[in-house]
Amino acid sequence: MATQEETFKKIVAHCKEYGFVFPSSEIYDGLGAVYDYGQNGVEMKNNIKRYWWEAMTLLHENVVGIDAAIFMHPTTWKASGHVDAFNDPLIDNRDSKKRYRADVLIEDQLGKIEEKINKEVEKARKRFGDSFDEAMFRRTNPRVVEHQEKWNALHERYSKAMNAMDLDELKQIILDEEIVCPISGTRNWTDVRQFNLMFSTEMGSTADGAMKIYLRPETAQGIFVNYLNVQKTGRMKIPFGIAQIGKAFRNEIVARQFVFRMREFEQMEMQFFIKPGTELEWFEHWKQFRLRWHKALGLGDEKYRFHDHEKLAHYANAATDIEFLMPFGFKEVEGIHSRTNFDLSQHAKYSGKKIEYFDPELNQSYTPYVIETSIGVDRMFLSVMCSAYKEEQLEGGDSRVVLSLPPVLAPVKACVMPLVRKDGLPEKAREIMDDLKFDFHTAYDEKDSIGKRYRRQDAIGTPFCITVDHDTLNDNCVTVRYRDTMAQDRVPIADLRRMIGEAVDMKSLLQSLAK
Ligand code: GAP
Repeated sequence: MATQEETFKKIVAHCKEYGFVFPSSEIYDGLGAVYDYGQNGVEMKNNIKRYWWEAMTLLHENVVGIDAAIFMHPTTWKASGHVDAFNDPLIDNRDSKKRYRADVLIEDQLGKIEEKINKEVEKARKRFGDSFDEAMFRRTNPRVVEHQEKWNALHERYSKAMNAMDLDELKQIILDEEIVCPISGTRNWTDVRQFNLMFSTEMGSTADGAMKIYLRPETAQGIFVNYLNVQKTGRMKIPFGIAQIGKAFRNEIVARQFVFRMREFEQMEMQFFIKPGTELEWFEHWKQFRLRWHKALGLGDEKYRFHDHEKLAHYANAATDIEFLMPFGFKEVEGIHSRTNFDLSQHAKYSGKKIEYFDPELNQSYTPYVIETSIGVDRMFLSVMCSAYKEEQLEGGDSRVVLSLPPVLAPVKACVMPLVRKDGLPEKAREIMDDLKFDFHTAYDEKDSIGKRYRRQDAIGTPFCITVDHDTLNDNCVTVRYRDTMAQDRVPIADLRRMIGEAVDMKSLLQSLAK
């Protein structure tokens, strides 16, 4: 059995081999934590974005979309707090010259202690079998209790240091815990210092006095600065939401795990503007809706969990993550935040404009509160990929790699194949494809044996293979082979559109959410 790490490596390799994701500018050896989506990846990514966009805007008549520019006035980032506080604590190892996030080094140390505890638990589970009482074991086993006490003490010290952003204390923890650089193996650390994650560039020529501007680190601020525009021109009444999909940029120091942590990535964010005092109700509402959105794809309900934030940003009064079980553990895919009126108030203060809502029912004006839902397209892509990738042993010693993608997200919905490249079969197959291509992304393949062609489509997750044989010319029926079961059916050509449509339809997925 492959370890989770090996499986993840295989998924990354598969993404490249089958045209989903390539390292950026690969011919120049790539660029750290930047990736390009290939011919299949872009189709799947577009399907994810469409699912999100339609679920947010079509299903909610009070949610509308915008597409704001990446470049924004630099004061935006002063007002939002990103210039002063969007920092990571960094530390360098003098021997390896490698740079690390101090918080990640300490969290890895906490993870190592957890691993020790889990190992003890698993050993005991094997030893005691069905009679094993895990809770009791964790409470009473001396080794586990000792590890747990160590974990608690370290966690408390670390949380305190992070809350106060006490950089000296973070360094002291690294020294006290005897954490070594994974490359050099030494403890020759520099001091910890703050590093801002925003990329900056200059707009205009230097002679004119160039202006330092930032590549947006989140799309949300494009929504906040357009709140008044949309509210007024759309005559929106509170509660209402503004949704947006777009690129965001962060100079991540610990960029790892493929498209999970990138320096250029894409977000799908929605800010929902509400009356102050109703935020916890709406927070709960959006939490539940967003979880249903994830689960409706059928990747497995057990792979999701909420992780409520204990440590809240000073302006937030509730926050949770939707985590997905990746091969490297439960990880954040989406954040849902109750941001109070912080952002709108800050923009009002820095711009000098009145940013409020006149509530006709209360006959008074107020600065709306905001519930934000924020999901990374790339993390969503990765969670779908990780749950879809399967290696299967088949009868007769054969094996296959199949992507069991939700059909609605699959890049190609059907592939039409003539059994042989003669006797009028290619022409008939082309005729079928030319008919289906207006409704579905359809491929045509006539090269190699049928078995090899099936494997190629399995590897990119195509739900249907449609084979045209000699009988087709007489009975107008084709053989349909299903990706997941590999079962085959004889189907009239006239039924293909309905059959494929039912399986890949976005509408039925959206309807399941609207219930
Ligand atoms: N406006 C709120 C905000 O940006 P966040 O938790 O920093 O919140 C939201 O980011 C989502 O964006 C995350 O849940 C994740 O899916 C995605 N994301 C954040 N940083 C990322 C990165 N470096 N690479 C890929 N996705 C990222």
